[in-house]
Amino acid sequence: MPDYLLLLCAYLMGSIPSAVLICRAMGLEDPRNQGSGNPGATNVLRMGGPQAAGLTLLADLGKGAAAVLLAINIGASALLQGWVMLAAVCGHLFPFFSSLRGGKGVATTLGCSLLLSWPLALCQLLFWGLVFLFGRMSSLASIATASVTPLFCYLLTPTLLWPFIITSLLLILRHSSNIRKLIAGREHHF
Ligand code: G3P
Repeated sequence: MPDYLLLLCAYLMGSIPSAVLICRAMGLEDPRNQGSGNPGATNVLRMGGPQAAGLTLLADLGKGAAAVLLAINIGASALLQGWVMLAAVCGHLFPFFSSLRGGKGVATTLGCSLLLSWPLALCQLLFWGLVFLFGRMSSLASIATASVTPLFCYLLTPTLLWPFIITSLLLILRHSSNIRKLIAGREHHF
């Protein structure tokens, strides 16, 4: 498969609007019109509880992991697998199947990391959990984790540094409304 086709497939896989579909199937409101307006597990947790949020998390992790798995199966180089992650995350952020109104990419990135480098994914997961434990804010944990991910990547899988730097920057930019709320002390706590 040519590289551009692989990247297109990854983008389309990332474009699957898991949160919107799961909320619709469970008779909940569209997460893009409720709470923070983010179609992601955190907002689905606020709106619909742990079951809907758990499913959303699994689906978002799964589509990232599936995109990288496809790349691995067709023998893509390690670096190309990293660009596949970026394509899948772009799909989640700007979904073709959902009027380009996507989420913030945290779970999809983690799903990709799990297959790209499990030690890196473990560091991301532990760091996210640690920040969440102290701050009780999902966005703060996500922003902090995205900020340190390039460092983890540099130490553990330097080949993937550029895909992770760009993905992390996109994730942080995508959290700009959360950053404004954090500065104003208005961010949602759990
Ligand atoms: O993963 C998304 C999370 O970091 C923030 O979600 O709904 O609080 O904007 P939300």
